[in-house]
Amino acid sequence: MTIQTPTSEAPGAAAPAGFPDLAALNQLAGAFFAALPGSPPTLPTTALGGVPAPVNVLPGGSSLGPFGQGPQLPGTLVPGAGLTPTSPQSVLSLGASAPSLVPHSTAPNGLPDNAAIVPPALDSRFGGQALGVPQAGPAPGTDRLSAQSFGLPGADALRELLNTPPRHSGTPSTPGSPGAVPVSAPPASAYYFAQDRQAPQGFATQVPQADAARHPPFDVNAVRRDFPILQERVNGRQLVWFDNAATTHKPQSVIDRISYFYEHENSNIHRAAHALAARATDAYESAREKVRNFLGASSVDEIIFVRGATEAINLVAKTWGAQNVGQGDEIIVSHLEHHANIVPWQQLAAEKGAVIRVIPVDDSGQVQLDEYRKLLNSRTKIVAVTQVSNALGTVVPVKAIVEMAHRAGAKALVDGAQSVSHLRVDVQAIDADFFVFSGHKIFGPTGIGVVYGKRALLDDMPPWQGGGNMIADVTFERTVFQPPPNKFEAGTGNIADAVGLGAAIDYVQRIGLENIAQYEHDLLAYATHHLKPIPGVRLIGTAQEKASVLSFVLKGYTTEEVGKALNEEGIAVRSGHHCAQPILRRFGVEATVRPSLAFYNTCEEVDRFIAVVRKLSSARQH
Ligand code: ALA
Repeated sequence: MTIQTPTSEAPGAAAPAGFPDLAALNQLAGAFFAALPGSPPTLPTTALGGVPAPVNVLPGGSSLGPFGQGPQLPGTLVPGAGLTPTSPQSVLSLGASAPSLVPHSTAPNGLPDNAAIVPPALDSRFGGQALGVPQAGPAPGTDRLSAQSFGLPGADALRELLNTPPRHSGTPSTPGSPGAVPVSAPPASAYYFAQDRQAPQGFATQVPQADAARHPPFDVNAVRRDFPILQERVNGRQLVWFDNAATTHKPQSVIDRISYFYEHENSNIHRAAHALAARATDAYESAREKVRNFLGASSVDEIIFVRGATEAINLVAKTWGAQNVGQGDEIIVSHLEHHANIVPWQQLAAEKGAVIRVIPVDDSGQVQLDEYRKLLNSRTKIVAVTQVSNALGTVVPVKAIVEMAHRAGAKALVDGAQSVSHLRVDVQAIDADFFVFSGHKIFGPTGIGVVYGKRALLDDMPPWQGGGNMIADVTFERTVFQPPPNKFEAGTGNIADAVGLGAAIDYVQRIGLENIAQYEHDLLAYATHHLKPIPGVRLIGTAQEKASVLSFVLKGYTTEEVGKALNEEGIAVRSGHHCAQPILRRFGVEATVRPSLAFYNTCEEVDRFIAVVRKLSSARQH
């Protein structure tokens, strides 16, 4: 990859009066961030044609570190990391920890929308559990604190609730040192659960598991305070955001990182030889490295920024597909796919005279691998499957699907739009040829997404769009393109939101994907346990491996009526076809109500949701 690197500000430049020497600060900060796990690497000068890598000079009053690191905010500050005076951003960000006091319009039901309840966190976000610091715990022999820290009932209470025997009778609910929060994850099934947690292929089992010392359980109330919008009130009630499959909310660190970009770094990238271009380029390329690390890709050259998963799949269909799919060839998708993973392939098939084949699902909503095997043949060119169904929540065994595609000589694309926020992904373990996701579904901004592609494939693919940034040389006779990823990033990209996505990845990695998966799994089981028995409720999507989606219909009601009733209580769910009409029709419906959970949701919120559905159910006799 070619990066034009404007000369950075001279080391040792005079510090503003009253500030420490900037060069010394840079050196200290560089050493500090290099020592942090997950620190962005320093670009070797050799990779940059002998030109020194751009280095962000800390602006006066900034709490920003080098390498385009996000501002150090509540929830992100590592004690001792602030080497410069606190910036106004940090002060403002403290608002995330306080109730929202901004008056809102009066709710139709007359309740005030300007009162907010901020549940007490077990600890502040500084040096708290989320950052891996062991916490003081309850009296030995009780599990009260552990339950609270998850926002869930205790292990024994939940077992009783679920009417299942303890899996490890005699196992104390507070492992570890007396009084410590039970952070020891293994064995996973020792937590709460009704069924064994078998990690689907393609993640978790292929990567190191969270170790209790590094990723203790998080404090959900502290996590919630990182998300200012969760303090909003809707119809007089505190917002319950159960529409996470449609989009997720943004932690303050992401919001502030984007503001910081526009306040201190805004420039086009890769071009101009000036300080802000260096800062912007540095921040943008640092985000690419964060994505690479997050997906387990082997090179940043395999990471292409696009607008979102939809654009990502279109890019692959219109470049690799246009080049490799011909008359009579076959493209396989599953019955679970979002329209974004159907329509681009249909367009390609129509253009080329190719055929779409569909992997069927069983009555639980899981793909049928035996049927899939029968579809594969020498005409199969690509298999495009989702890793998690947006409509049903099914976790699809993508590693097996990719392996079978490869044995048939086909390529495989995995749509990770709904998986990356719930499960640890390792694209090399899955062996996907392409993997795509959207930033806004993983607590990042809208308008930014990613295509991962194996380098050899990207090298051979033609560019999609033409223009600036993607060229090495242009004459009126011919154009020489840049190598990937620039070849696929024509024009000025969404620089600020790529940087925001990097901050979102930092955030989820600090919490720990294993912690997130475990907490959401527990929350989903709790919600399913209460929703399923309500008279008239039909759950759609009951696969053994599910991410946190509860699609359902309620007898006697349209899905819109249920959605409206929930909204009146401040609870946001999606009701409709979820851009996945084929899978809903497979189950004989045109629409469902779809609560979709994230790690900032709680059992109390589930209780509020269940109360509304119960009330609706009892109002119309079944
Ligand atoms: N794909 C998004 C959803 O599932 C929009 O709601």
